[in-house]
Amino acid sequence: MGKDKIRRFRENETFSNLFQASFREVYQRDYPLKGSWNKNVFGNDNPIVLELGCGKGEYTVALARLNKSVNYIGVDVKGARLWRGAKTALEEKMENVAFIRTRIELIESFFAPSEVSQIWITFPDPQPRKENKRLTSPRFLNRYLSFLAPGAVIHLKTDSRELHDYTKEVVEAREDMTLLEADPDIYANTGRPANDPVLTVRTFYENQFLEQGKPITYLRFSTGNPATAKQEGC
Ligand SMILES: C[S@@+](CC[C@H](N)C(=O)[O-])C[C@H]1O[C@@H](n2cnc3c(N)ncnc32)[C@H](O)[C@@H]1O
Repeated sequence: MGKDKIRRFRENETFSNLFQASFREVYQRDYPLKGSWNKNVFGNDNPIVLELGCGKGEYTVALARLNKSVNYIGVDVKGARLWRGAKTALEEKMENVAFIRTRIELIESFFAPSEVSQIWITFPDPQPRKENKRLTSPRFLNRYLSFLAPGAVIHLKTDSRELHDYTKEVVEAREDMTLLEADPDIYANTGRPANDPVLTVRTFYENQFLEQGKPITYLRFSTGNPATAKQEGC
């Protein structure tokens, strides 16, 4: 392991906004903060928004700067990447940001029913050959449902047209989720307001894909039955 990585891992241990648990501590067991993130970490009753596979936490930090009355938690398994986001949030004294280092397969151990209001998934690995590893496969969506509040929204931003189309199909086939928006190229859609976070926040990976000339796609869907959502005008 490189010296820089070791230094980051050591520093991660000292960060008050970074929570880490070993596989054994959370496999089929609840993390001690499950159900009490607001009370014991943020000290308020604001909505909690997750970014799954947050990498360096650029989206988490950028959204947290834009919305101070929302609590953001970035989740990733890679400690050296999380180090960047956690460090920036501490340097800027951001009280509405935290990070969790874990495998997303174990996410249900961290959050109680209805504890989370929104999820952002930005540029996940498209996993063309392993459907079960896609963060928007039915297996993962079922995990998220265990802690999402009624009407919670999930955002997916990806350069992979295959993952975009796949997720759209998965959501449309479900009776417990409702597709709200499918945009195959966010930069071609002139109807978006300039301050829309879909446009204004760009991660490391998004910038790379834009340089390669790839269209950036976006999906927004919510928990809840499509028929009910239509009646309620969602
Ligand atoms: C392609 S990167 C995108 C990072 C960031 N969202 C961005 O746009 O710059 C995908 C990230 O997801 C994380 N990831 C993928 N599968 C994961 C899993 N099952 N559990 C935790 N993290 C995962 C990887 O470690 C990586 O940092």
